Amino acid sequence: MRIEFSEISKSFSANGKGGQRIQALLPVNFVIEGGEFFSIIGPSGCGKSTLLNILAGLESPDTGFVTVDGTRVERPGPQRAVVFQEAGLMPWMTVSANVEYGLKLQGIPRAERRERAMKFLKMVHLSRYAEALPHQLSGGMRQRVSIARALALEPRVLLMDEPFSALDAQTRDVLHDELQRIWQETRTTIVFVTHNIREAVYLSDRILIMTASPGRVKRITTVPFAHPRQKSSTELSAFAAMLHDQIKEEVDKVAATELDPDWDKRPVPVAPLPYGTGEGI
Ligand SMILES: Nc1ncnc2c1ncn2[C@@H]1O[C@H](COP(=O)(O)OP(=O)(O)OP(=O)(O)O)[C@@H](O)[C@H]1O
Ligand SMILES: [Mg+2]
Repeated sequence: MRIEFSEISKSFSANGKGGQRIQALLPVNFVIEGGEFFSIIGPSGCGKSTLLNILAGLESPDTGFVTVDGTRVERPGPQRAVVFQEAGLMPWMTVSANVEYGLKLQGIPRAERRERAMKFLKMVHLSRYAEALPHQLSGGMRQRVSIARALALEPRVLLMDEPFSALDAQTRDVLHDELQRIWQETRTTIVFVTHNIREAVYLSDRILIMTASPGRVKRITTVPFAHPRQKSSTELSAFAAMLHDQIKEEVDKVAATELDPDWDKRPVPVAPLPYGTGEGI
């Protein structure tokens, strides 16, 4: 398995119609290898979610393309499951029915659906809640259901966009440990967007640091520690502090832009024409 981002750029209309455009991503090139835990960090608005959504097939790039094993991504698919910041469960369905829903859409028979749902609910330690409704669960538990729902699709790559940022610190710690264990058990490739440097250092094989908007690759750093890791490790803390300084430079640029009274008078880069489409997934 190999994911390749090739000359990906993206702009958006500033007002949802024509006129001025905001350049979200300048051409971006990088590769994610199969089985990697790959994180993307960078200041707010630098295009992290846009990159992830392009890989998910939820957005299309203006230029360039993403391939998964050589096949172009053109639309969402079960091979690329996404976990968002909010669990997004259907409130009228039981936990198990929520996990089974994507499998039902794929036409998987009832017994197999059930079996897969239970396997992944067990993996996130929620098998006892299979028949509960989402409102009976805590925020952290709901997020675990959303992870089980994504894993039940047995995707080739799991995409996570700040999946733990709405949770309290203790719940987040528990879910970090669970995610590290699940990743080691399933060997699924994970692409993980976060603002949290310690979280990225604890979990990732490699971390892509983006520049302030418009987003580009500032650098890709390998985290040189074996898994499983200990959060309390002093080496991990030192590594996170070093990354923090590199990212702070970019965050400071955002602050400077927002404090510049003439920021809206600066020229906005205009995006090239959209790239042609071919056969894709
Ligand atoms: N659907 C959209 N319509 C218009 N502009 C958009 C849209 N999606 C993103 N943008 C713009 O593109 C830029 C990048 O947004 P994106 O959501 O990718 O940033 P981000 O790095 O994920 O930020 P955050 O850390 O705050 O989640 C921002 O300027 C944003 O306003
Ligand atoms: Mg985002």
